Amino acid sequence: MKVLGIETSCDETGVAVYDGESGLLGHEVYSQIALHADFGGVVPELASRDHVRRLAPMVGALLARLGLAPAAIDGVAYTAGPGLAGALLVGAAFARSLAWAWGVPALGVHHMEGHLLAPMLEDDQPSFPFVALLVSGGHTQLVRVDAVGDYTMLGESVDDAAGEAFDKTAKLLGLGYPGGPALAALAERGDPARFRFPRPMTDRPGLDFSFSGLKTFALTTLREHETTLPEAAHPQLHADVALAFEDAVVDTLAIKCRRAVEQSGCHALVMAGGVSANRRLRARVDELMAGLGGRAFYPRAELCTDNGAMIAYAGWQRLHTGQQEGLGFGVRPRWPMQELVAGA
Ligand code: KG4
Ligand code: ZN
Repeated sequence: MKVLGIETSCDETGVAVYDGESGLLGHEVYSQIALHADFGGVVPELASRDHVRRLAPMVGALLARLGLAPAAIDGVAYTAGPGLAGALLVGAAFARSLAWAWGVPALGVHHMEGHLLAPMLEDDQPSFPFVALLVSGGHTQLVRVDAVGDYTMLGESVDDAAGEAFDKTAKLLGLGYPGGPALAALAERGDPARFRFPRPMTDRPGLDFSFSGLKTFALTTLREHETTLPEAAHPQLHADVALAFEDAVVDTLAIKCRRAVEQSGCHALVMAGGVSANRRLRARVDELMAGLGGRAFYPRAELCTDNGAMIAYAGWQRLHTGQQEGLGFGVRPRWPMQELVAGA
């Protein structure tokens, strides 16, 4: 069964074809970063309009590149939530209409389930059960995964998501959007001995996170030193703050991952979502899992951030068991993942 996947939950247009026998046949992502850069963040209406412009040409180009006629597609999966309502609606309407025109089933997929299952697109896959750390711009969650659709939420952020904290702190440092990669690059030049930021909520039991205080800590540190230091010392100050911030986020995530893995007795940890592209976080989690006698699994970098491949795969998991929806469609900008049930 070949499934076309459509992702439009935020500022990336993603399209892909997943085949149950051959795996991922191909995918394309168009990033709207340049469109939103001047505004310092995603402008929802501009995002929706750009998805409208990109979707049809991208699907046409992908099918042509793969040498597939529309008749070769057996189902269409799209992101139904969580995400920006308008952006989701564009993808849902487009996907549902294509499926109707082609006479194949359609299904709305949960975006975070897509991220969670993305490591399954690699040759080297984890086996169930595993713990997943989902770290994106909108979510920070630790989930126990016993099977596709069988998810237990172990902990999540009570305020800002990890990616959101990266983006906001990057803004304080005068870096562009999205701030995560830019902040990580700046941190490379930081002095690890200069500042130490707190590790929020690690001094008490539990697996929830809180990252908004770190952004405030960065702001206070910057204000305190910028006024006393000469202008020439500011670039180094910024790099040192970036490193202290990144260190605190990475360390906090690693501490909670250790707890989750120890409590659940799982030997595999999956990390996915945009922040999982962070080099220092990966190194830290690899080291942690090796120390615990287990292993960490990630999708390749291009499948860590938003993409259509993970949606095609998550959709295939459900469509091939016969799950599908009627001609109506809806989107869920807020959609707790615990509400998902296994396909069948
Ligand atoms: O999963 P994603 O592409 O979109 C959402 O569903 O949110 O994640 C985007 C987030 C942004 O906040 C971005 O700054 C962050 O992932 N990000 C990073 C890195 N690459 C992307 N954060 C830290 N280090 C990185 N290398
Ligand atoms: Zn995402």
